[in-house]
Amino acid sequence: MSRPALVHLVAAARPNFMKVAPLWHALAADPAFAVQIVHTGQHYDANMSDAFFSDLGLPEPHHHLSVGSGTHAEQTARVMIAYEAVALGGRPDWTVVVGDVNSTAAVALVCAKLMIPVAHLEAGLRSRDRSMPEEVNRLVTDVLADLLWTPSPDGDENLRREGVPAERIERVGNIMLDSFELLRGRIEADDAGARLGLGARRYGVVTLHRPANVDDRDTLTGLVAQLRAAADSLDLVFPVHPRTRKQLQAFGLHDTLAGTPGIRLIEPLGYVPFMSLVTRAALAITDSGGLQEETTYLGIPCLTVRPNTERPITISEGTNRLVKPAELLENVGQALDGHWPAGRRPALWDGRTAGRCVTSLRQRIGVA
Ligand code: UD1
Repeated sequence: MSRPALVHLVAAARPNFMKVAPLWHALAADPAFAVQIVHTGQHYDANMSDAFFSDLGLPEPHHHLSVGSGTHAEQTARVMIAYEAVALGGRPDWTVVVGDVNSTAAVALVCAKLMIPVAHLEAGLRSRDRSMPEEVNRLVTDVLADLLWTPSPDGDENLRREGVPAERIERVGNIMLDSFELLRGRIEADDAGARLGLGARRYGVVTLHRPANVDDRDTLTGLVAQLRAAADSLDLVFPVHPRTRKQLQAFGLHDTLAGTPGIRLIEPLGYVPFMSLVTRAALAITDSGGLQEETTYLGIPCLTVRPNTERPITISEGTNRLVKPAELLENVGQALDGHWPAGRRPALWDGRTAGRCVTSLRQRIGVA
């Protein structure tokens, strides 16, 4: 190809930005590619989006679709309409989508209809729980994508079982950890814990935002009671997702939780301060996908408050355990007493995934 191949890198929501950033840096350094960032605007608050762009050295998006929040159909449809116009205005040679958010599936669907080749980064993960919107997004994206970049062998196996031809599947490893290694120096130098007054006691990091945990009054009430009891044993710092804050307030739980000694409810943090907190934490309590992986990489006990995970390798090889809401306190005790798997880093979780993606894409555009 005589001109550089135009690649659209699609970023939409908080968990996407640390997957897009290493690939942006690697592709931008390769003259075979001209890269443009497309931000769908699914996340739009400064602390859910802009903080990540600046921490991760991402440029201003070349295209901003400003879709905002809405029902699943509204959000997905708005991304489709807006991205179709962008793709028709300047047709990319390849589009890269990441993760499993609504924008991921929406863009894959647009590309499939326009016959634009799509690569899916973080392909093949399955929770086998279609009540999770992300599972539907994963299935739709993977059936449409031309190139499936997987983080772990279970991803390859899931795709093969679904009939995806082997030549479309490439295991590249876990790109999240490229971001961590890119910013390790700043993360280790950051003193987010001291700024929050943590230090005298061990502390845990809490993130909860899944509809299954925060949208139901009884479930969230039970979780709040467990967190308050756990705060007897260690400090808990809880950066609160906008959805969760809204639900805590709606159920009248916010002030009780915020007023509990040992619990600090704070605004969502940027990537560097958040990872700085995590690296020094005694444990994490979460329903996030990414944090299950980051804690496995760092060897920190992770209590995942979900009935299943699309990232089983964090349990079989790492430090993750699935925990029922009612058993949170008991599991916190076990983690603090050292009764927890030590774990190891899965293969190819090495901070060099972006390079493997670039090599893969070079082969596909015929410049390998
Ligand atoms: C989305 C993803 C989820 C991911 C999560 C990380 C889907 C289906 N879900 O969930 O997989 O783990 O992002 O955060 O794509 N809001 C704001 N400001 C923002 C963004 C959202 O206030 O910048 C509020 C709005 O009230 C919105 C609600 O949060 O309605 C939910 O946002 P949405 O993007 O629909 O889903 P998330 O729960 O963030």
